[in-house]
Amino acid sequence: MTDFDLYERELWDGRAPAYERGFARMTRYMVGPLLDAAGVAAGTRVLEVGTGPGFVAAEAVRRGAEVSALDAEPGMAEAALRNVPGLDVRVAVLPEVPFPDGTFDAVVGNFVINHVGAPAAALTELRRVLRPEGRLALSCWVMPGVGALGVVREAMDAAGVPWPDGIPPSPFEEYGEAMAFQRLVTEAGFADVAVEEVTWEHVVDPEEWWETGALSRVGSTGVAIGRQDAAAVARIKAEYDRLVAGYAVPDGASDGRVALPAHALLASARH
Ligand SMILES: C[S@@+](CC[C@H](N)C(=O)[O-])C[C@H]1O[C@@H](n2cnc3c(N)ncnc32)[C@H](O)[C@@H]1O
Repeated sequence: MTDFDLYERELWDGRAPAYERGFARMTRYMVGPLLDAAGVAAGTRVLEVGTGPGFVAAEAVRRGAEVSALDAEPGMAEAALRNVPGLDVRVAVLPEVPFPDGTFDAVVGNFVINHVGAPAAALTELRRVLRPEGRLALSCWVMPGVGALGVVREAMDAAGVPWPDGIPPSPFEEYGEAMAFQRLVTEAGFADVAVEEVTWEHVVDPEEWWETGALSRVGSTGVAIGRQDAAAVARIKAEYDRLVAGYAVPDGASDGRVALPAHALLASARH
């Protein structure tokens, strides 16, 4: 395991409930596009990696697929099992994929490859467990993160609060751009690699987004906020309030919610 993987294990430890309440509502938007890109339908044998609370797995089961899943965080695997009763879900840390060669028709991963310390090795393993002609679909964030993903960090910058030392950058950061992501997947041996950009609006109560995205220690931004004293957090929150006001939903029936833009990449490929 790389140092980044060790950091990630600590990052996700015990975070499953907060993740499910917050970020997972935003990543859900990609469930349909991801499964469509991998051609998941009734009878498809599919592996979902980094399943988190299991929302991709749930939709694959609803489509009639035969689903296996894995996640590095035991709390996430438990959440997935709660949300998808009877799911074959394993605890495993990519690049480890505990299945024999050629087991699956499709492998999918929603916002997990950007959390892996050795993304190229992980891709090689994902290809290994696909049958010939099997399909891969992976999503990641466009980097650097903006809108829903970046607003708390922007608020830190605006408040003049420096990013703390000792938070390792993701080795995937350089691949959060379409050409680089396409090259990475191609170099792992996949064919017909395509990467498209997908954008949507995450409509959310800004107080809820602050609570789940900044105060709940989910993701590196949450870790960075957790290292600040109360006065700095108050300054960041004031800047956050100012920034999110710019995303107010225009119609009067929005209950104060904001529409934060989200930008992702969706890679699809063939074994
Ligand atoms: C951003 S969450 C995505 C969860 C879910 N796929 C979704 O769409 O909401 C990343 C997930 O990947 C898991 N994860 C991170 N690194 C991993 C690794 N090396 N191997 C397996 N799972 C990993 C985390 O525990 C977490 O559940």
